[in-house]
Amino acid sequence: MVNSDSLLHPPERIVLLDDRESGLEGAIVVHSTILGPAAGGCRYWSYGSEEDLLEDAYRLATGMAFKNAMAGLPLGGGKAVLRRRSGQGDRKAIFAAFGEAVEKLGGRYVTAEDVGTTVDDMQEVAKRTGHVAGLPALSGRPGGDPSPWTARGVFLSMKVVAEGRLSKPLRDCVVSVQGLGSVGSHLSRMLTDEGAHLVVADVDRERVVAVARMTGAKAVPVEEVLSADVDVFAPRALGSVLSVRTIPHLRAKVVCGAANNQLASVEDGALLADRGILYAPDYVVNAGGIINVAAEYLGWERADAAALVEATGSRLERVLEAARAQDCSTDTAADRLAQSIIFEAATAVGRSA
Ligand code: NAI
Repeated sequence: MVNSDSLLHPPERIVLLDDRESGLEGAIVVHSTILGPAAGGCRYWSYGSEEDLLEDAYRLATGMAFKNAMAGLPLGGGKAVLRRRSGQGDRKAIFAAFGEAVEKLGGRYVTAEDVGTTVDDMQEVAKRTGHVAGLPALSGRPGGDPSPWTARGVFLSMKVVAEGRLSKPLRDCVVSVQGLGSVGSHLSRMLTDEGAHLVVADVDRERVVAVARMTGAKAVPVEEVLSADVDVFAPRALGSVLSVRTIPHLRAKVVCGAANNQLASVEDGALLADRGILYAPDYVVNAGGIINVAAEYLGWERADAAALVEATGSRLERVLEAARAQDCSTDTAADRLAQSIIFEAATAVGRSA
């Protein structure tokens, strides 16, 4: 979730995708290319109306612009959102057609995996365009599944909030994890290795059993994970989990997780702050994946990408410090910082942000 002011800025470009032959339907939103090519994954999801789809694409693209700026990457922000119809359809044809649409943008947009897409899909895209990352990693190079990198950034952020806010090491904390997919399972292992206690939930029962077996975590029903009596709540499923409906039930003192767009509305950041719950802004803590993706696309060394991920905790500290200094919620502080990075870059090259 990003501040409403930023949503008033029109994106640089919106490309509507509608190719009957392949079944490709959706949109690519290029929020900005001021810092570099607009990078952001491709989501493949079932949406209701076209308005819902476009709104999601726009919010996600804006979030990517802020995330990339905050992570110190030479990349703007963008996102592709493709409609998933019931039944698989011809997946190869859909992603081949999507690759052609990305190619037509001439490098203004760089795609990668996101919810609902896989390395195989990106390999199909790569047959049509070079502006894609999230492909199998070459030995010693960044690339491949970004989830372990995302989990690492969230883990480091949790250490910062545990020590700074809860005044105890992470190993003494109880952490609830909602969603045990790619990121959630890596993070659960990292937390267990650290010695933290876990409470976990997922709609997929098999994933719960696997993670509980691996980590000794306590499994709870999905409807109870949000109100579990824990120190840290880690949303790792889908967005809008923090809302006027759910926030009153939270018992954690800190929210720190990988899910994108955790706040259902911009008011929810203030609602959390009013309840004395520290919110570690999603796009600040979950940038590890895009750093890996960026490093792959830009041809960086693995060590340089890893160093940027390791600095996630210090970027979060900067945001928490700004929120204190400005007496505002942490999500607002993060948006202001990200906007100022983009604004300064635009001023330097004489463009409007
Ligand atoms: P995933 O699709 O592998 O895992 C999501 C998990 O959440 C699945 O196991 C699913 O069964 C579960 N789930 C869905 N609804 C649920 C509910 N209501 N309650 C409990 N569990 C539920 O996705 P992944 O890659 O682990 O990503 C998780 C979140 O992190 C997403 O919001 C994604 O956008 C975000 N993210 C992921 C990154 C990555 O590197 N994979 C990078 C940055 C953000």
